[in-house]
Amino acid sequence: MQSISALLQWGTEELSRLYSPEDAYVDACLLLCELLAVDKSYLYAWPDKQLSASVALSYRGAIARRKQGEPLAYVIGHKEFWSMRFTVSEDTLIPRPETEFLVETVLNLLPITTQSILELGTGTGAIACALASMRPEWQIQAVDVSDKALQIAEHNINDHKLKNIRCYASNWFDKIAPMQFDAIVSNPPYVESNSEYLQTEIRYEPRLALVSGETGLDALTYIIEHAKKYLKPKGLLCFEHGFSQARELHALLHASQYQNIHTVKDYAGLDRITYAYC
Ligand SMILES: C[S@@+](CC[C@H](N)C(=O)[O-])C[C@H]1O[C@@H](n2cnc3c(N)ncnc32)[C@H](O)[C@@H]1O
Repeated sequence: MQSISALLQWGTEELSRLYSPEDAYVDACLLLCELLAVDKSYLYAWPDKQLSASVALSYRGAIARRKQGEPLAYVIGHKEFWSMRFTVSEDTLIPRPETEFLVETVLNLLPITTQSILELGTGTGAIACALASMRPEWQIQAVDVSDKALQIAEHNINDHKLKNIRCYASNWFDKIAPMQFDAIVSNPPYVESNSEYLQTEIRYEPRLALVSGETGLDALTYIIEHAKKYLKPKGLLCFEHGFSQARELHALLHASQYQNIHTVKDYAGLDRITYAYC
């Protein structure tokens, strides 16, 4: 038997070898909260509570995974996005805070009377679920090429009891019925194949969700070139991209004769979202 405070101290010390003491403490607390299914206040209220050997063993296992650099979301199995909890797995990208900015941009640009949205590369379903929860009257189709990611997306859609999303497998537009949407939204892979960034903690995330050719622009080039066929006249194409890619993307959008092309910066002041009209 070990007390909450003793385990927490041990966990914090272990993680401090890799992370700052503050981050180590936060993660050590979160991992214990997850195992005990309690919130942080419980840990403060009951520091002397003795935990069973099996809880202590599971905690040591979770700390060991985090110590290897595995993202916290994978260790605990979920991540918050748009104030909603999303199950994640090693087959899905972990939803990022900057992607909430894509959701916000789409909500600001589209009228409430919008009927149909297509999301390309849904992963956990985070974008589709956030939009569906804000606009229950919109009909959203969400596709991904990864069957395993789609299983997680289905789980999340059911978990949030969202009835206005249809989720299915498609290699970009391959399985999309010939119809025209009010908007196409995407956070596609956009990292360069030789990026040093791939050596960081993101190495745990699926390469399929991150990398898109040598320049990182293969997926976006394809989407820009093909989206028009699936958009209504004046339909919106809105996507997330790398902070240094806006200029090339504007050129691609111009070449495909999109109108009113804009890039918006994220909260960190970086070019992050570009949108244009058919
Ligand atoms: C950057 S992740 C975005 C995941 C999620 N939408 C989000 O924002 O958190 C890109 C997603 O695109 C999917 N993807 C990659 N290539 C694809 C393709 N050819 N067709 C459809 N989806 C694809 C990946 O499986 C991954 O789920």
